[in-house]
Amino acid sequence: MTKTELLQHIRQTIEESLKATLLELNQNGYEEYYSMLAYHLGWIGDGSGEKATGKRIRPLLLLLVTAAHQADWQVALPSAVAVELVHNFSLIHDDIEDNSQYRRGRLTVWSKWGLSQGVNAGDAMFTLAHLAINKLSEHLPCDVVRQSANLLLQTCLHLTQGQFLDIAFEHRSEVSIEDYWKMIEGKTAALFSACTQLGAIAAQCPPSTIKYYQNYGKALGLAFQVVDDMLGIWGDEAMTGKSTASDLCSGKITLPVLLGLQNNAEFAKRWRKGNIQPSEAKYLANLLAEEGILAATREEADRLTNLALTELSSVHPQGIAGELLHEFTYQLCQRQK
Ligand code: IPE
Ligand code: IPE
Ligand code: MG
Ligand code: MG
Repeated sequence: MTKTELLQHIRQTIEESLKATLLELNQNGYEEYYSMLAYHLGWIGDGSGEKATGKRIRPLLLLLVTAAHQADWQVALPSAVAVELVHNFSLIHDDIEDNSQYRRGRLTVWSKWGLSQGVNAGDAMFTLAHLAINKLSEHLPCDVVRQSANLLLQTCLHLTQGQFLDIAFEHRSEVSIEDYWKMIEGKTAALFSACTQLGAIAAQCPPSTIKYYQNYGKALGLAFQVVDDMLGIWGDEAMTGKSTASDLCSGKITLPVLLGLQNNAEFAKRWRKGNIQPSEAKYLANLLAEEGILAATREEADRLTNLALTELSSVHPQGIAGELLHEFTYQLCQRQK
């Protein structure tokens, strides 16, 4: 099998498994409820299709880790489905928390069905994730299932801790770079780290290998969020598909904002006044870029990606899945969406 064939096979299997899992909700009288989740996952409604499904990075990463350790990656499918559902639960709630109207180029669930149904749809996604991971027991021993289910729950808690900090920082006058790392470790890197660990756990790797995967996923997740921050200011909205206003207008603390506050007095003065308008976003983005903040943000993403690659090399992932893991790690840092 070539790399492209393996990737295609894994991607298709992820999609089929997600669809089978969601069918549980599609019962008589609950068709509209099911449609909210199916809409969010990109399968139905206006603009459905490849762009609307999201990148499915997390399950892919997880299954590649399993495949790279001589295990049948299909045994890890319940974990793969679970992490993608947790991710999407977090997005449905995050869009409410961030007042975001658009995601993946279409209206968010809460913008279409209202806040109350948005919260509830996120809850369904969360619950389905935890039900899904128990299906590991069809092919793997009890202790592997328990370890995986516990890790997923711990990760959800960590994710909400990160979201807590993210929201709290909007109203905090002093946020340090150290605070920022702690925040993104929770909101983004925890789930990446869980994915790489769950892949290794399903392959029944020794604890020392799982530890390397914990570190690899964490570094990769931190790099991923730094790139997300970069795209939120300098990215192309047509590519990212997120809300039309730049991250600068939301008052959110991101790495470029923190670096801007430290290094550019004009930016700092304007930021502290608050209420940045969409018409000002381009000027401020250019001001930050001229100060070298875009380059500095990119450098941080590269540093973390190299750290991730070092951790990955230590565990010698095998075969074409191993090669794909290396390539994928690098590509995530270079992405435009
Ligand atoms: C978006 O994640 C949320 C962050 C952690 C930055 P992705 O960029 O992986 O989202 P989709 O699933 O591909 O839309
Ligand atoms: C990313 O949040 C992490 C989670 C969704 C938990 P952000 O708010 O930074 O991500 P986007 O830009 O909305 O995808
Ligand atoms: Mg957010
Ligand atoms: Mg958001």
